[in-house]
Amino acid sequence: MTILITGGAGFIGSNFVLDWFKHSDEPVVNLDALTYAGNLENLASLKGNTRHTFVQGDICDRALLDQLLAQHKPRAIVHFAAESHVDRSIHGPGAFMRTNVEGTFALLEAARAYWVGLEAEAKAAFRFHHVSTDEVYGSLKPTDPPFAETNPYEPNSPYSASKAASDHLVRAWHHTYGLPVVTTNCSNNYGPYHFPEKLIPLMIVNALAGKPLPVYGDGQQIRDWLYVTDHCSGIRAVLAGGRLGETYNIGGWNEKANIDIVRTVCALLDELRPSSEGSYSRLITYVADRPGHDRRYAIDARKIERELGWRPAETFETGIRKTVQWYLDNPEWVARVQSGAYREWLDTQYGAKA
Ligand code: NAD
Ligand code: DAU
Repeated sequence: MTILITGGAGFIGSNFVLDWFKHSDEPVVNLDALTYAGNLENLASLKGNTRHTFVQGDICDRALLDQLLAQHKPRAIVHFAAESHVDRSIHGPGAFMRTNVEGTFALLEAARAYWVGLEAEAKAAFRFHHVSTDEVYGSLKPTDPPFAETNPYEPNSPYSASKAASDHLVRAWHHTYGLPVVTTNCSNNYGPYHFPEKLIPLMIVNALAGKPLPVYGDGQQIRDWLYVTDHCSGIRAVLAGGRLGETYNIGGWNEKANIDIVRTVCALLDELRPSSEGSYSRLITYVADRPGHDRRYAIDARKIERELGWRPAETFETGIRKTVQWYLDNPEWVARVQSGAYREWLDTQYGAKA
């Protein structure tokens, strides 16, 4: 038994691989293109683990996908690979259409060709798990109920539109071809190995460097925050027991305004790494808003709890403390991400051939 995961050198994918080996002996084939967001240093603790096979490659490369499926015969694919940053999608949407839409299409077609050829038992057991986002549902008004799985899709950014398109492809491949799929739509993750272009890690590393903490618009936009290992356990639960063709929302029941997140990060740093120049909150700087900025996301996670018994293990208080502490404990990881040195890891680790 083996699973194939895509995007396993990114933030959530690498946390998923590390978490997987805490719960299972089942081998993982990890396909990742190592874009700027892929960092093999996240997986350095797996050095020498023969159950982890890393392959540098692109999900748009159909020949590679066919070869990996034929060679490793996975019982499931868990699809994380994506362009994931909303601000980058505003500046350059093309990469998002390519990876998130065309890449998911290529992966679905490769999975279908492989799955059709399986023996009856393996065919029935096979799963294609698509990892998606709550952003596909659009923006909530202050008094709206949280997103349920039945909410209409109203994506507002190039990123969320590309993820919505990929969700629709996955749905269609199930309804038309019978491919055994499940989809999860999760809220904002945070935790270790989060690339410091996203809100929480950016605020931590900027504060420690004495740089401004840029808060978009009025800072009153609301997100639902989930500690990354809780997302991983939710994916494992759906992969193991989710009903075919169904979607499951995953969230932390934890709505917070951005400015409150930033103030919480500052307060934790004041406690754990006090600055001689006073509270880190002095660095908070309001800047121009993100174009088309969604005002509020919130997740109704009752379906995954009712059907699969999943609940988050971390509260926001425990999760954010662990996260800030992780960044304080790992200054080399931060420095190598900031300098770009993490991109040399393949050469450093495996020689110039890699
Ligand atoms: P990330 O940007 O940190 O990592 C993405 C990974 O995919 C990187 O390792 C990158 O190298 C790889 N990749 C990109 N293009 C590729 C391609 N063409 N072929 C192969 N690999 C490629 O993203 P993340 O935050 O870890 O998100 C992972 C998934 O979870 C995405 O599908 C995202 O939409 C979804 N998601 C993220 C969040 C969040 O809060 N970060 C929340 C809900 C859902
Ligand atoms: O909801 C799930 C989504 O969460 C995922 O699908 C995305 O991949 C992930 O990037 C995240 O999207 P957001 O746009 O919500 O995350 P980001 O960290 O970029 O921003 C969080 C909020 O903070 C958002 O309202 C914008 C704001 N923000 C962000 C940055 C980077 C700021 O105010 N200042 C900043 O510098």
